[in-house]
Amino acid sequence: MNNATTRRDFLKQSVATLAALTPLAGTVPTGVFAAGSDRIRVGIIGCGGRGTGAVTNCLEADPAVEIVAVADALSDRVAKFKDQLTKWCQEHLKEGERRVKITPDTTFLGFDSYRKLLAIRPLDVVVITSSVVFHPLHLEAAIQAGKHVFVEKPAGVDPVGVRRVIAAGELAKQKGLSVVAGTQRRHDPVYIENHKAVADGAIGKIISGRVWWCGGDPRRVYDRVEGESDAQFMVRNWYQFVEMCGDHIVEQHVHNLDVANWFIGRPPQLALGFGGRARRELGNRYDFFSVDFDYGDDVTVHSMSRQINGCYQRTSEQLVGATGSVWPGGKITGTRPRPARRDTVNPLVQEHVDLIRSIREGKPLSEARGLAEATLTAIMGRISAYTGQIVRLTDLTERKDSPWYNLALSPTAEDFEKGTVKLPPTGVVPLPGAATPTK
Ligand SMILES: NC(=O)c1ccc[n+]([C@@H]2O[C@H](COP(=O)([O-])OP(=O)(O)OC[C@H]3O[C@@H](n4cnc5c(N)ncnc54)[C@H](O)[C@@H]3O)[C@@H](O)[C@H]2O)c1
Repeated sequence: MNNATTRRDFLKQSVATLAALTPLAGTVPTGVFAAGSDRIRVGIIGCGGRGTGAVTNCLEADPAVEIVAVADALSDRVAKFKDQLTKWCQEHLKEGERRVKITPDTTFLGFDSYRKLLAIRPLDVVVITSSVVFHPLHLEAAIQAGKHVFVEKPAGVDPVGVRRVIAAGELAKQKGLSVVAGTQRRHDPVYIENHKAVADGAIGKIISGRVWWCGGDPRRVYDRVEGESDAQFMVRNWYQFVEMCGDHIVEQHVHNLDVANWFIGRPPQLALGFGGRARRELGNRYDFFSVDFDYGDDVTVHSMSRQINGCYQRTSEQLVGATGSVWPGGKITGTRPRPARRDTVNPLVQEHVDLIRSIREGKPLSEARGLAEATLTAIMGRISAYTGQIVRLTDLTERKDSPWYNLALSPTAEDFEKGTVKLPPTGVVPLPGAATPTK
């Protein structure tokens, strides 16, 4: 895709949207989107790889976006973010166009940096792209502070955290705030059209499905920087620890599980799966998972996720109905076939276009629950694989006597702020069949 063309198209589209929309009096919550100004001031919490991408996607989404503040736990990440953003602006903005307005006073470091960022005024939108364990805390704080949010997937690493995201989503609704999630397939025109066709009966009643995120090992292992604390080391290497990322079934495969839930129209009732670890250098994640999800009413979906180099790779979804089948990102077969098609819309930009439009129109988007349900689906699969047991959704959402209802992986997000984090040992992983499930 040609960046310049894409940007031009998006700006055109955004300007057209702007011209077409006059915010309706009384529909925009007071203080949420400053009256008399069309500027949208954005702050970011967690400015690593995706954070840098999300900020540029947001700048691309709408010409009124300004990036005004950054918060991160690690100073070198902030320096890299600022460098990359400067380069992006040089390449993509007109000369003299100043849309990044971060100053030393709006640059915050450390595990409490999110609090400082949320206190600045004015600030309309917060982009949350920190590591997964912090998403519930950062989302909750942003909603309490009255901000619209873009939050990356997944919702959290454990049931306690994900339930906080559900509660924060409900609070956002009460406050008239938008929450858009980084499950970008829901903003992809191809997926959206196929979803509509399936909802309209294109494949009959969905009976079963298969979802995959089978890829290589992204590795992402970093040596300890001199003087670095366990907490900082874990944040740098968050990808390696279930306590930080939820394991790859949660961190990565959540995308495909979300698509299955979206097309079927509900999350599964139970999971039974397995997995294992043979190759990692650091941390405590598994290498692969294979899980059967039972959606009730005789609907089942098989999920495979793997991060092993040299194996067959596939990242996709397929759902089979009574009269046909859909590859949600591709074709529909059966009695009402549709060929696969491509779209030039970049869903990573479109999710910000949709967020900003919702703010302008005063029609808040609410993606917290879908994100939470997809994350709970993945967590059910992980716990089942770790323990060898059947795990029900109600174990994570309702049944307070379930061994997993109160599961909160340690260290928690709060432990990082308190300074009580201890590095878990490498290679100590859950054994299915062990008496006490702890992860
Ligand atoms: N939607 C997608 O396609 C997609 C792609 C990649 C990553 N992601 C998601 O984006 C998030 C970030 O991933 P990444 O690849 O950018 O990781 P990263 O390590 O590159 O960036 C994370 C950043 O957050 C900072 N951080 C972590 N904890 C923090 C805290 N408590 N306070 C402040 N800053 C903190 C880190 O220092 C780092 O700069 C993850 O949730 C990941 O799953 C989504």
